[in-house]
Amino acid sequence: MIVLGIESSCDETGVAVVAQQADGLPRLLGDALYSQVKMHEAYGGVVPELASRDHIRRVIPLARQALTQAQIALSEVDVVAFTRGPGLAGALLVGAGAACALAAALGKPTIGIHHLEGHLLSPFLSADPPRFPFVALLVSGGHTQLMRVDGVGQYSLLGETIDDAAGEAFDKSAKLLGLGYPGGPALARLATQGDPAAFELPRPLLHQRNADFSFAGLKTAVMTTLKRLGDDPTLQQRADLAASTQAAIVEVLVTKAVRAVKAAGLTRLVVAGGVGANSELRLQLNAAAQKRGWQVHYPELALCTDNGAMIAMAAAMRLDAGLATLKSDYGFDVKPRWPLSDVLMATT
Ligand code: KG4
Ligand code: ZN
Repeated sequence: MIVLGIESSCDETGVAVVAQQADGLPRLLGDALYSQVKMHEAYGGVVPELASRDHIRRVIPLARQALTQAQIALSEVDVVAFTRGPGLAGALLVGAGAACALAAALGKPTIGIHHLEGHLLSPFLSADPPRFPFVALLVSGGHTQLMRVDGVGQYSLLGETIDDAAGEAFDKSAKLLGLGYPGGPALARLATQGDPAAFELPRPLLHQRNADFSFAGLKTAVMTTLKRLGDDPTLQQRADLAASTQAAIVEVLVTKAVRAVKAAGLTRLVVAGGVGANSELRLQLNAAAQKRGWQVHYPELALCTDNGAMIAMAAAMRLDAGLATLKSDYGFDVKPRWPLSDVLMATT
């Protein structure tokens, strides 16, 4: 079975082609991605209307590129998948519209996929795919969740952020530090030149035994520290603050993830979402896992942030598990707000 997947929930247009193999694992045949980062940079964040318009320009050329790379003819595609939500409404509509138009032209069915399920299952496309069950640490720009995953569609929430997401904490702190958008990678780069112990920043909820997170206070602490440093902090001070901010976020994520794996009685952790690309987080999670004889799985670095591959793959895995309803009426809606609990062991 060949699935073509389209991702357009935010500022990346992604189209990929995945083949479902006999062993149940999907194989990535072609993957094309266009990031709008440069366009939004000037505004310091994503401008939804600009994002939608750019998705329109990119989606079909990217589909051609993915198919060429996969050496698959459009007529060989069996199912067209798209991100149905959550995300920016206009941006989602472009991907959904393009997917339904393509599918209608081919006379093939469509399937709408939950963006976070895509992230959650993305490590299955890596060279070292995980096995169920595992605990997943989902750290994207808008979500920070710990989940127990027993199979496709079998997710139970162990804890989540009560305010800002970890990615948001990176982005907002980066903005305060005068770094560009997206802030996470920029802050991580600056942090390599700084001392993580230079500033004492809060580690909210660290000692509470639940799996919840809170990062809103961190950005306030970064703001207060910057005020204290005066109008013109030196590069070294900024690097120290970046390193201290990253250290605070990473310590909370690692501590809570380790505790969740232990509490679940499991030995496998899967990390997914944009913040999963952070090398300090990877370093510390790897060290914590190695100490305990656990395994940690990540998506390939290029598949940590938004991409079409995770959408095509999640569709293939849902279909394989008998958990997806294929639609052939080519009518579509999108769900800008969509709790992951809505796709639990149920048809979507
Ligand atoms: O999963 P994603 O691409 O988009 C959402 O679905 O939100 O995640 C984007 C988030 C942003 O907050 C970005 O700053 C963060 O992931 N991010 C990073 C790194 N790469 C991306 N944060 C820290 N370090 C990184 N290397
Ligand atoms: Zn995402």
